[in-house]
Amino acid sequence: MEFGTFVRNNRESKGVSLRVLAQRAEVNPAYLSRVEAGKVPPSDQLVARLATLLDCSEEELFLLAGKLPATIQEFVKREPYRAAMALTGVATMGVAEPTATYGDSSEQENLSVLGSIASGRPASKCREEHIGRSTVVHADCIEWLRQRSPNSIHAVVTDPPYGLREYNETEKAKLRAGKGGVWRIPPTFDGCRRMPVPRFTTLTKKEQLAMRAFFAEWASLLLRVLVPGGHVFVASNPLVSHLVYMPLMDAGFEKRGEIIRLVQTLRGGDRPKNAEGEFPDVTVMPRSAWEPWGLFRKPCDGLVQENLRKWHTGGLRRESAERPFTDVITCSPTRSTEREIANHPSLKPQSFVRQVVRAALPLAKGIVLDPFMGGGSTIAAAEFNGYESIGIEADPAYFDIAVKAIPRLATYVPGRNGDDGTDDDKPASARNGNGTSKQRSLFD
Ligand SMILES: C[S@@+](CC[C@H](N)C(=O)[O-])C[C@H]1O[C@@H](n2cnc3c(N)ncnc32)[C@H](O)[C@@H]1O
Repeated sequence: MEFGTFVRNNRESKGVSLRVLAQRAEVNPAYLSRVEAGKVPPSDQLVARLATLLDCSEEELFLLAGKLPATIQEFVKREPYRAAMALTGVATMGVAEPTATYGDSSEQENLSVLGSIASGRPASKCREEHIGRSTVVHADCIEWLRQRSPNSIHAVVTDPPYGLREYNETEKAKLRAGKGGVWRIPPTFDGCRRMPVPRFTTLTKKEQLAMRAFFAEWASLLLRVLVPGGHVFVASNPLVSHLVYMPLMDAGFEKRGEIIRLVQTLRGGDRPKNAEGEFPDVTVMPRSAWEPWGLFRKPCDGLVQENLRKWHTGGLRRESAERPFTDVITCSPTRSTEREIANHPSLKPQSFVRQVVRAALPLAKGIVLDPFMGGGSTIAAAEFNGYESIGIEADPAYFDIAVKAIPRLATYVPGRNGDDGTDDDKPASARNGNGTSKQRSLFD
């Protein structure tokens, strides 16, 4: 119903004349008459007064007038992510979704996981441990970031839960039971067993919107806690990187490039499913051989050198006097020995994370944050580099794994500690006589 019609009907049902209502609302009767006729829009003040005089919900009346009530405006400003989630529950935010399956239980769970992430967990659930120079916290990072003081973190190195879906309770249960779900169990390759990898192509439009909204709030909170010139290294993959890169830039971060981790994976490269014989020369998607890490920076306070003096940030630590930090890093998949130390499905290898974490503090001063700590690889890498760090993890089981793993990962030496130097998933038969082998190319 139109706002004007609603007001007139309501007024007439109460037996109040237009002149009397105008008098009580302290407006000209001619103006009220034009509002009732839908010829002029009501002012916010008039809507609020009419709500009281006609004894109806102010929020409903504002919405009827095509305006956002002040309470909702405030909610959107304060908690844009939760507001977006609330709205996606009743509408698709204007995005066509021809194959929408809202009502599908797993999507509802994903959205409710997002909702609970947004609302945060009660402070009483937070557990904090100190390991060397690092502090690890069992908490929701959104909630933690909200409470953290501004300008108190110097760099962020993190690997977010892309899709967030892969870490909801149903998907984690499927992963732990080896049942697949969003965790694709890759086909064995040449007799080699591979670790499950999340299947990002299954994200619906609505989940992608929810992710963007989540990362938008996350990014604005990061911007607040980082000091000027602080860098963010964010792990990604070529299918979903835009869902976190755009929100970071929208929040005010500068894109400073991308670090390419050259790593052979078993993602993509398959022939059409159940039609492999029919299309032997076709690959549906390229076999992925790299992992992008977005590199962002909070704008500096003056020139880089001024920022370095004041905040100890603004640049990246060089590899050596001769060699700057470089944006392509060749790196094998996480070794089995590291996985035995930290049994997390997305554990990043120390050989890679140590290089990135080192570069993140140009003067080796400050605090590195990993808001999605997982098995603790970033925090261990910070320990290895002698840096102060903070890790946040929401899952209690992964938090416990990280607490135990960090000291061991920090002192982990590839090729020692019983590490035979082979891939985590390569069978003994694929190794050479002395139990070691160079990583074989999947494309050989
Ligand atoms: C991709 S994994 C990180 C893996 C990590 N880089 C490692 O090497 O072990 C993402 C982690 O974020 C956690 N997580 C998801 N949502 C979170 C939130 N809102 N706050 C904190 N941790 C969260 C998940 O439980 C998961 O362990």
